[in-house]
Amino acid sequence: MRPDAVHRVLDTELAAARERRGGDAPRVLDVGGGSGVWAVPLAAAGCHVTVVEPSPNALATLHSRARDAGVTIEAVQGDTDALGDLVPAGAADLVLGHGLLEIVDDAEAGLRALALAVAPGGAVSVLVANRYAAILHRAIAGRIVDARRLLDDDAGQLAGSRDPLVRRFDVAGLEALVEKVGLTVEVLQGHGVVSDLVPGVVLDANPGAAEALAQLELEAATRSPLRDVAARLHVLARR
Ligand SMILES: C[S@@+](CC[C@H](N)C(=O)[O-])C[C@H]1O[C@@H](n2cnc3c(N)ncnc32)[C@H](O)[C@@H]1O
Repeated sequence: MRPDAVHRVLDTELAAARERRGGDAPRVLDVGGGSGVWAVPLAAAGCHVTVVEPSPNALATLHSRARDAGVTIEAVQGDTDALGDLVPAGAADLVLGHGLLEIVDDAEAGLRALALAVAPGGAVSVLVANRYAAILHRAIAGRIVDARRLLDDDAGQLAGSRDPLVRRFDVAGLEALVEKVGLTVEVLQGHGVVSDLVPGVVLDANPGAAEALAQLELEAATRSPLRDVAARLHVLARR
């Protein structure tokens, strides 16, 4: 299976970082890295990976995943508020904040902390939930009242419910936030533009459909207005 739009951008970024380092392993910092969904494959691909994560349970799963994959990951228990005390400033080639800015108390402070950890010339990769996709997906599922409440909420949160997210983003808001902390947006693309909408049974029943969908997804990822309603928005921003 070909890499999706986010992996493709990260692969290019890490290849450039490796070249800058004269062939040495790129240094990746994954903040809110959870159980290692991104961290473990990056370590397996030859990166030096540090995960900062507050949840002991997530860290336990991360350790076991890393062990199973035969890779070493430096895992630090902590959060964005303490990031400056936990990792050296300006040292990482690539800082990941995936699924993070929707749940931290202060998204601007969180992103500022990530930006401080990046080496000059390095990049921050941010992956966040898209508020408009959340509205569409609920409406399609018949959850019309929830869709309307999400539309009406300024932060894109399903207020008053058990919404695990504090906020969701749109393209303009995400771009403005990234620039506010002094980073330059290099890539702003969608993740899950069409792939999240196609049921697995459709793919199973049609030979070649999965590959065709992956190609369609890649093409749609950067094309507005399709990109703008992707399930998640991805930014690669340069320091
Ligand atoms: C939705 S998960 C994303 C995990 C992983 N980055 C991924 O994309 O699969 C969010 C993670 O952020 C962690 N987290 C929550 N608040 C945080 C904070 N203030 N600083 C760092 N991580 C935090 C949570 O414990 C959780 O593991």
